[in-house]
Amino acid sequence: MLAAIDHKKARPFTTFGGTKYALPSDEPEGERLEEHFLMQAFDNRLVISTVFLKEGDNVLDSAKDAVSSWLSDYVKTMPGSVEVYGIDIEVRLFPAAGSPPHNVHLRLNSVTNLPSEWSGTFAFVNQRFLVAALQEHEWPIALKELHRVLATEGWLQLCEPDSNWSGGLIVDRHKELTTALYESRGFSISIANELFANSGFMDIHVERRVIPLGNGRENMAMKTPVMMEGGLGIVHLSHGRR
Ligand SMILES: C[S@@+](CC[C@H](N)C(=O)[O-])C[C@H]1O[C@@H](n2cnc3c(N)ncnc32)[C@H](O)[C@@H]1O
Repeated sequence: MLAAIDHKKARPFTTFGGTKYALPSDEPEGERLEEHFLMQAFDNRLVISTVFLKEGDNVLDSAKDAVSSWLSDYVKTMPGSVEVYGIDIEVRLFPAAGSPPHNVHLRLNSVTNLPSEWSGTFAFVNQRFLVAALQEHEWPIALKELHRVLATEGWLQLCEPDSNWSGGLIVDRHKELTTALYESRGFSISIANELFANSGFMDIHVERRVIPLGNGRENMAMKTPVMMEGGLGIVHLSHGRR
């Protein structure tokens, strides 16, 4: 095991018990997640599944995160009679108490252990970007939990990156670093390709989209975890602005 490398500007990370979540929980991360490049990649659709909500239905956004997020955008498009729930293991980026709409309910919770009273509750569940959060052995547990809380004929929508990206030297180096970090934490960089094998879900559809790489924010988010792991044999010194 390598000794941690000293570096400037360590950022706050969740302290939720047992998690290996790799990314920071602060405002810059919230801003990064607010960027709508993903929405654009999916033709500005928040919902890819064929979901028709009716009065009294419940919706869950698992790993809700930032103030402005999938949930906040989605809630504007639906009738106030639909109850919307959001969970996350970190509440730092939840909106201030009292500010979400009356039908939005936020809760500190892991997707690996959802409330027992939620069985069969949700007509629609959304979950996006837990690739750097759930260890490989936790995915079947999370999928089982998501399956349990779905109502009969409910839909689950998952969005995860696959590992099949490539580019020039810098992109390849970044991928090498990401792979090393994920392996060190027990994540699977190719989870998108493995998700539904033996999961118990039916009527599975997959839409693949290509998104642009670059702008550096992801690297900033991953800096502290990489330094804490002693650079993973790839980074040897911390210098420069951030
Ligand atoms: C990369 S962010 C994605 C946030 C949001 N879903 C989006 O697409 O913008 C990952 C989020 O998952 C949350 N998270 C990590 N592990 C979790 C778990 N076991 N259960 C619920 N949320 C978790 C983190 O706190 C963080 O807010």
